[in-house]
Amino acid sequence: MKNFLSVHDVIDLKKLVDLALKYKANPYTDQTLGRNKRIGCLFLNPSMRTRLSTQIAAQNLGMEAIVFNVGSEGWSLEFEEGVVMNGTSVEHVKDAAPVLGKYFDILAIRTFPGLKNREEDYSEQYITEFVKYAAIPVVSLESATLHPLQSLTDIITIEEHLSIEPVVISHPKIVLTWAPHIKALPQCVANSFAQWVTALDKTNFVITHPPGYELDKKYTTGATIELNQHQALCDADFVYVKNWSSYTSYGKILSSDADWMLTNEKMNSTNNAKVMHCLPVRRNVELSDEILDSPNSIVTEQAANRVWAAQAVLSTILNG
Ligand code: CP
Repeated sequence: MKNFLSVHDVIDLKKLVDLALKYKANPYTDQTLGRNKRIGCLFLNPSMRTRLSTQIAAQNLGMEAIVFNVGSEGWSLEFEEGVVMNGTSVEHVKDAAPVLGKYFDILAIRTFPGLKNREEDYSEQYITEFVKYAAIPVVSLESATLHPLQSLTDIITIEEHLSIEPVVISHPKIVLTWAPHIKALPQCVANSFAQWVTALDKTNFVITHPPGYELDKKYTTGATIELNQHQALCDADFVYVKNWSSYTSYGKILSSDADWMLTNEKMNSTNNAKVMHCLPVRRNVELSDEILDSPNSIVTEQAANRVWAAQAVLSTILNG
């Protein structure tokens, strides 16, 4: 694996999941793999889980991790070709990225979309330009449209749960349900979850959302879209709750209908489903207390698995 930007960079998904679970069972099994290697983690946005789990994962492999809050502490970067840089940008990516490529062995980057211009956000210019000019492997810590380390974690968590279920579930029903939020959030987690789940064999994958929240079809091909949330939740084994802003009316909040929040009553029609969320979550807006504090919620365990997902990705790149 050269870069880790989406599921398409993964050669063998099952092998990657197994590797992550191997690290969960024995975190230090490859503790010299990253010796004398360095990962630079560039953050343009806040983060708790992604930042800390990536640092821990690197450390477990004996690798040094240096975090650079480039969004608040770095020079503002220019991405346009041939531009006269007499504005606010101080440095061109063509000059900055190669320097980082010399300082580090792997570069990891977190950016968010602006949610103003769909074409611009979906071009993934920021991460693409770093891939082009850094000349070292690049790992997405969440980009404008995808969050692959989160999605790998989600798959690991689902596979882990399926392996400990007392009854074999051969075709798990996995439901991604939209939830209300007070802010316009990116589509990244939903796009990415859809992309990774549809890459799995033998799942019944359903996405439910209010009208106007259709995701980009390139991520949802293979999923069933069901606009009736009650119908979607019937017999679900896993319910993934997430808000996203509209893709079609780009970046807009079209609904804040509190009826879309998951409650215990709605869970009655599921197959005692496990409830997932990438966190951070706004309690009693996006997800109710009664669900988050119930035994059905596996959100903490899911977030804990971020370490093993990151460790599996970093070790695969180091071995590559
Ligand atoms: N899920 C996730 O990416 O969390 P952070 O924003 O805290 O990194």
